[in-house]
Order: sequence, then C-alpha cells, then structure tokens
Amino acid sequence: MKQVRVAVIGAGIWGAAHIRAYSQHASAELMAICDLDEGRARDAAATWGVANYYTSVDAMLADVELDAVSVATPDGAHAAVAIQCAQAGKHILCEKPLATTIEDCQAMIAAAEAAGVYLMVDWHNRWNPPHHEASKAISAGELGDVRYIYYRLSDTIYVPTTMLPWAGESSVMLFLGSHALDTICWFMQARPCRVTCRRQDGILRAMGIPTADMYLTVVDFDDGAMAVVENSWVLPQSSPALIDHRVEIIGSDGVIYLDPQHCGPIAKYTDKTPAGFPDASLPDMFITPQVHGRQVGFAVESIYHFVECVRDGKRPITSGEDGLLNTRLILAAERSADEGGKPVDID
Ligand SMILES: NC(=O)c1ccc[n+]([C@@H]2O[C@H](COP(=O)([O-])OP(=O)(O)OC[C@H]3O[C@@H](n4cnc5c(N)ncnc54)[C@H](O)[C@@H]3O)[C@@H](O)[C@H]2O)c1
Repeated sequence: MKQVRVAVIGAGIWGAAHIRAYSQHASAELMAICDLDEGRARDAAATWGVANYYTSVDAMLADVELDAVSVATPDGAHAAVAIQCAQAGKHILCEKPLATTIEDCQAMIAAAEAAGVYLMVDWHNRWNPPHHEASKAISAGELGDVRYIYYRLSDTIYVPTTMLPWAGESSVMLFLGSHALDTICWFMQARPCRVTCRRQDGILRAMGIPTADMYLTVVDFDDGAMAVVENSWVLPQSSPALIDHRVEIIGSDGVIYLDPQHCGPIAKYTDKTPAGFPDASLPDMFITPQVHGRQVGFAVESIYHFVECVRDGKRPITSGEDGLLNTRLILAAERSADEGGKPVDID
C-alpha cells in the first residue's frame, strides 16, 4: 500500500493533533516537523520519533521528500506557507480558516490548481458523529425543507487569554465562526447570499487583548432559509467545559437538536479540580480524547481522511473553494458589524 510522506508545519497546540494523527495512521509516514520556534520543532520531533525538524519551510522542502503537508500555523500565516508548499507540489491540509483575506484564499486556490494538488480545510465537525447524522437526515429529506438553523459555538475566556498567544491578531469569528459558518452551509445545502452581524466589545480589550468578545450573525440563504450563529470568547472559566456547542435545525417536517459538548458521557466533580482548567468537569470525550495512549475522536478522522485521499487519489470533501466562501462570510460579518449591523450581500 502506498505510504503518504507528510510534514506538519506549526507544532503548537493543534499541530500536535496532526502529529499524533499522522503517527497513528498506517498509511502515513511523518517525515518532518517545521516550526519557527526551534525548541518546539525539536521537542515535537523527539517526542514523536520524527527524524527531521526545521525552522524554515524552504529548508524543509529542499531537504526532505514529501507528498503532503499540514499547515497548522496561526490563521494569518496559513497563506504564505501553503502557497510555498503548493508550488513545491505538496498536497495541503490547512487548518481553518483557510486564510484571513479573500486575496490570500484566491492565491492559495490558484497555487494548488496550478500544481494539481489538493487543498483541504480542516473543518472536522463534518466528521463529528452527531453532525454527520444530522447531515444524513437532512440529505435523506427527513426534515423536509430546512428553513432555520441556530448554531452556537463558544469558548471560555481561557482560550483568548491563555491558550492562544495570537488571539489579539485573530477573533472568535475567525477561530470558531469559521467552523460554525462551514457547518451551516453544509447542513443547509443552499448558497448564503446575505450576512448581518452585530458584535460586542470591551471585556477582552480591557484585558489588553484587542479583539471582540462575541458575535451574533444572521445568514440568509438564496432559498429563503436563514441561520443564526453565536460565537463568544468570554464564557467564564468556571464553565464545566472549554467549549459550548449547541445546534437546532428546523425544517418543514421536523427538528433536530444537537448537544455535542454537553451530552455528558462523563461528568467529574472533585475537590482537586483546578478552577478554570479546561474541561475540568466535562472532559472532552469526542474531539481528541486519548484511549490507552491512542488519540481517538472526530478531529483525528478529518486528518485520516486527508491521508486516505492523497493515498487513493480521491478529492477531499472540503476544498479551497469552500474555504474562500467561508472567509467571504467571515469578512462580510466583520463589515456588517463595523457598519452597525447593516446587511452585506455575498456575491
Ligand atoms: N480545527 C480546530 O478545531 C482547531 C483547534 C485549534 C486551533 N486550530 C487552528 O490551528 C492553527 C494553529 O493553532 P494553534 O492553537 O496550534 O496555535 P499555536 O500558537 O499553539 O501554534 C502555532 C505554531 O505555529 C508556529 N508558526 C508560526 N508561523 C510559522 C511559520 N511561518 N512557519 C512555521 N511555523 C510557524 C508558531 O511558532 C507556533 O508554534 C490556527 O489556524 C488555529 O485556528 C484549529
């Protein structure tokens, strides 16, 4: 069976999920890790027994034979790295959002097309079992005509204040809104045509982190359906889980409720639980839990999908074009919020 030779660029929190997934997949050979921070690259390579580590993408591409890369750098640093790798003929799994500007998305798509390589965006909720079940039910017509989706995806304040050193250069709209907007488009099976958004500011800025606290976004679709998306980055540290994730889908013939975070297969309350520690009381059982030292969960499945697509020559189920539409929606939401909630049309 063909082995897929991969490298992970960006060995931070989420790069580690890619490294673990590639280390586990029988068809993947993790050849190299690249990070601007040499200590990080070296430590990750040592931990996972990877032969090569680099602090420059150029040096890595010149030195090691690769079929594919994961780009897990901060949002604003996806485009340059991905374009460089596409031009070197590597298939790309890019973390979400694809990029932070339309021009960068278009340049990434053009570079991938010119090189004939895949450009997949890692929206792993498409592999989230309840989401997948909902999508199947919608496609089978069980809900009739889907008219409305409510989508909440929020984090505790731990994420912008402690987890992400670059939160001030990003936003909860880029970080979580990207997932939510991709999922509503996937569920709705219609084209989004208008975005109206309001945002709240002040809590994070007062802490020296120049980004908005929360967004409320309404997306209109060309078939008359609508979705409401809520994303907040200021939930209290005492929340039982790091992520608050709820979905409601209403159709002409039925409704689906998803409670992917709080369905509570395990709830753990002890006197030793450190206040504010992520997932202190409701540990993650779905995204990247470890079972007997092995990473399982739907976040691994999207990375496995990429490996198998490269191995088998199949087009991944998310694309650069999806990434471009997603960034268009994000930027339209920001513009609408800048203009006090004025609707912004999507071309
Ligand atoms: N799919 C998900 O649910 C999910 C979850 C968390 C993060 N993410 C995404 O993953 C990406 C990384 O997030 P993170 O939390 O791991 O960030 P992080 O800050 O923990 O890690 C980013 C790493 O990239 C390195 N880096 C920056 N620019 C680089 C470059 N040009 N070349 C090589 N290395 C570079 C940094 O030194 C750092 O080690 C972001 O796009 C984020 O939105 C996705």
